[in-house]
Amino acid sequence: MEPREKLAYYASLVQQGLETWLPDEKGELRQIFAAARYSALAPGKRLRPALLMEFYALCGGQAEDALPFACGLEMIHNYSLIHDDLPCMDDDDLRRGRPANHKVYGEAAALLAGDALLTRAFEVMLSQSCPRISPVWAMKAASIIAFCAGMEGMIGGQMMDLAFEKNRPQAQQLEEMVRLKTGRLWLAACAAGCALAGEEGDKMQRARHYADRIGLAFQIQDDILDCEGDPEIFGKPIGSDQAKGKTTFVAFYGLEECRRMVQELTDQAVQAVAPLPGSEFLQQLAQELTTRQK
Ligand code: IPE
Ligand code: IPE
Ligand code: MG
Ligand code: MG
Ligand code: MG
Repeated sequence: MEPREKLAYYASLVQQGLETWLPDEKGELRQIFAAARYSALAPGKRLRPALLMEFYALCGGQAEDALPFACGLEMIHNYSLIHDDLPCMDDDDLRRGRPANHKVYGEAAALLAGDALLTRAFEVMLSQSCPRISPVWAMKAASIIAFCAGMEGMIGGQMMDLAFEKNRPQAQQLEEMVRLKTGRLWLAACAAGCALAGEEGDKMQRARHYADRIGLAFQIQDDILDCEGDPEIFGKPIGSDQAKGKTTFVAFYGLEECRRMVQELTDQAVQAVAPLPGSEFLQQLAQELTTRQK
């Protein structure tokens, strides 16, 4: 399968999984399900679940078997986006070309929809049994994802991101903030994919290295697009970082140096997985992300 075709296939699996595990509930629970579905089913790129399934397949698994974990991770990512847009955080009104969750459902419902997606993620990951995935491996994968989403991961990074609006970070602190707020969910994808297949050796090390490089590159590219992206394509407000006084890589290093960094980090990501047979998709995806417009 061509990389684009494969990504589209993974995205279609994720869409089906999310429809199944976040049904269109009626009655009293209609509103919370609707708010959670509004964000989770919106047209995201589904990159993290794709990587999780791809690393699982690279380690010998059948990609479809990892779908509950892929969807769980995507739910966590979507919860982070809902909360990230709230007025008390980035205060952004637009996400994936649509009004942000809180603009449609209100702040309280948006807060709860985020909480709901986080909780549902672990329910789905830990209750959908697959005969080909050992419970021990499933537990390991879930604990990697929890760590990466938590205080030493995405949440910790988000806290640093807010703190750095007031206190300017040093270069090393800035990189650590990005590694946590964004990189950790890429690490969750790659490492959990390996863990689900019982992999703990060389492939796991390479997956971790790939995730680290591609996660940084991804956020730097996001910071570039926040400055010079096409709002119609990007689907998020342009200039938001500068308006909030965010210390981004672009604010710190300038656009030109950032473009160079994205390419360098991408090359390192590609090198990390190149020795692995069957890693063509991972290599091409990394390269394609350097020219992404959304
Ligand atoms: C957005 O992630 C948040 C960042 C880490 C920059 P994505 O760009 O993967 O968002 P979607 O899921 O495709 O909308
Ligand atoms: C936040 O980075 C990444 C998350 C942990 C949600 P940004 O604040 O730059 O993400 P966008 O640009 O709003 O998607
Ligand atoms: Mg943010
Ligand atoms: Mg934001
Ligand atoms: Mg951004």
